[in-house]
Amino acid sequence: MKDIRDKARERIKSHCKVCPLCDGRACAGKVPGIGGIGTGVSFQNNVSALAGHRLAMRVLHDANEPLTGVSLWGRELALPVLAAPIGSVKNNLGSDLSEGEYSEMLISGCVAAGTMAGIGDTAKPETFKQGLDQIRDRGRSVIPFIKPWALQEVCVRLDMAVAAGCDSCGMDVDAAGLTILRRLDAPVATRTPRELAAIIAEAHKRKLKFIVKGIMTVDEARAAADAGADAVLVSNHGGRVLDHTPGTAEVLPAIAAAVGGRTLVMMDGGVRSGADVLKALALGADIVLICRPVAVAIHGGGTDGAARYFNVIRDELSQCMRLTGCKDVASAGAHLLC
Ligand SMILES: Cc1cc2nc3c(=O)[nH]c(=O)nc-3n(C[C@H](O)[C@H](O)[C@H](O)COP(=O)(O)O)c2cc1C
Repeated sequence: MKDIRDKARERIKSHCKVCPLCDGRACAGKVPGIGGIGTGVSFQNNVSALAGHRLAMRVLHDANEPLTGVSLWGRELALPVLAAPIGSVKNNLGSDLSEGEYSEMLISGCVAAGTMAGIGDTAKPETFKQGLDQIRDRGRSVIPFIKPWALQEVCVRLDMAVAAGCDSCGMDVDAAGLTILRRLDAPVATRTPRELAAIIAEAHKRKLKFIVKGIMTVDEARAAADAGADAVLVSNHGGRVLDHTPGTAEVLPAIAAAVGGRTLVMMDGGVRSGADVLKALALGADIVLICRPVAVAIHGGGTDGAARYFNVIRDELSQCMRLTGCKDVASAGAHLLC
């Protein structure tokens, strides 16, 4: 990955230093940009919360060839890790790629590595469409995340997702905090549990599974599950919407204990290695997402860079599972931590 990272640094250096550890310190306050909002502490807490956990090494067992694959809504993935959505790569990364070019590389890279790509939504429906236009026959490998617009606007995008062949989608409900989107004529807003249930009902009417992204408390996880969510995604938007939140790994165990079993539990924020993935699984996640390092890999190596990045994460995860005695993803639990 060194060449890929070096090339990426050259290409996006105005916005991202491609630090040895992507931990939110060098880019604190860079929103818009690649960083976390304000002090950058929410982003940094994501990384440090995972770093604060340790894996219990076990080698007297027969889990020598661990299975990293998982099944998600009828498709088999090579690893329990997806690409998190990212919007406006030009504004946020100073990218020379168009949204469409970026999405094409992301989707192709994810498919090559046996996983799925989240794609983002912005103020302009055309930009959302540019991402969807890259899908072609790969709709089941792409999860579009729609912003919390008014219901009518959401339905327009749900129809676009169905037309593109997707069978799952999500909403980053925490985007209610994105200032730029709050200033629009038809702005994003916080959604009541009742409004969320209406949105999810529209998705289900179109046979789309629905992920509620941006859950950081047990009460909201329960509300999302009650509203019909097929998955809650424990996330603080990479620390980009509210300063001074805990790291996602801090709140994950209580959320998984409250709603796991009723709904899938996903998690993102600060996941940087296969060890971090295993920690998140041990803390209760079923699926983990990664954002910024994937964007770096694409800017350094395009489709191949993204695929290689996920392959590295998969190899690291496999090695961590082997050395903790975890034979498959479903067997991960708190006993892996010490
Ligand atoms: C530049 C940038 C743009 C993002 N845009 C979106 C978006 O459009 N929709 C969304 O749901 N999340 C968006 N996110 C949040 C990510 O999907 C994800 O929740 C978060 O970045 C995960 O943390 P990580 O970058 O530490 O892996 C964005 C994140 C970044 C850094």
